[in-house]
Amino acid sequence: METEILEVVVGARGREAIERAAALLLEGKLVAFPTETVYGLGALALDAPAVSRIFEAKGRPAINPLIVHVLDAAQAREVVRSWDPRADELAAAFWPGPLTLILPKAADVPDEVTAGLPAVGVRAPSHPVARALLATTGVPVAAPSANRYMAVSPTTALHVEKSIGGRIDAILDGGATPIGIESTVLDLTGLVPLLLRPGAISRAELEGVVGRVDLLDQATKEGAPRPSPGMARRHYAPSVPVHVLPSDDLEARLSIAPRAAVGVIARSARPVQAHPDVWIQLPDDAKGYARQLYAALHTLDETKLAEILVESLPDSGEWDGLRDRLHRAGG
Ligand code: TXA
Ligand code: MG
Repeated sequence: METEILEVVVGARGREAIERAAALLLEGKLVAFPTETVYGLGALALDAPAVSRIFEAKGRPAINPLIVHVLDAAQAREVVRSWDPRADELAAAFWPGPLTLILPKAADVPDEVTAGLPAVGVRAPSHPVARALLATTGVPVAAPSANRYMAVSPTTALHVEKSIGGRIDAILDGGATPIGIESTVLDLTGLVPLLLRPGAISRAELEGVVGRVDLLDQATKEGAPRPSPGMARRHYAPSVPVHVLPSDDLEARLSIAPRAAVGVIARSARPVQAHPDVWIQLPDDAKGYARQLYAALHTLDETKLAEILVESLPDSGEWDGLRDRLHRAGG
């Protein structure tokens, strides 16, 4: 199939692109669009055959549930059976924004969306293009990240095109996504909120609004049977091995002449004595690092390398989401 590239520019042509994308969605087709985190691959959330096409295009097993994107808390209530007072507080604090809430699903949300689970993930994105698309479509839109299953999430329209171009109907090109890693996922179906995936909104920020938040490992240790759908340990991964190393080990490793091409992602500049084939220096602050990490992984993935070495990250809470993603990338 030919994938239409709909460039969003300010003014009349931008409007046209959004209207074309909304019309395609309403016909049951697949449209990739930018959110503030990463690009999503959208289909009408209440249209089961359209949702099934997402799984085909990504090559994703049907056991991985999708996030339903909505404009606001009012629209979120349409896909949720019992809206929680904690959800109200969290939505007031963080929506629109990079927080996904897991809540009991409404009856008309197809099993395809939730992978048969009784709960659904909902999030109101803040990206103006995502919001314009949701407003014009007028209904909830299910969207996973717009990449082939297990691959690194896309932060530009070009990443989407390279990964699933030809398999989807259109890509709304709204430029690079500002946050760069996926949303924080918080499960509200239990007594204590459970952090399923760390992201741009930290555990401390969540606790500031709803009190105690448990981590997935903690809950598992305490014996609670928790499904962690789609949380495969290896995920968000380039096709070459990724190793995360403290900077001393990284230097030691690089001081030995490598037998094959090595790419490095670090927060420091390339030392003069080191000779990796590619050295990508990312910002030393968590927000700046997140914005550029996936583009760096995509770039290194395209270069013929034997392995990718990544300098390990600080322990503080603002880096939690990034340590999680590097861990899943294989490090
Ligand atoms: O930032 C994001 O969240 C991006 C943009 C496009 O919104 N989307 C995204 O979707 O990352 P995806 O499908 O790649 O990841 C969805 C995550 C998975 O970890 C999945 O397990 C979890 O959300 N999730 C979705 N629905 C769930 C449910 N009903 N129960 C538990 N976890 C769920
Ligand atoms: Mg994904």
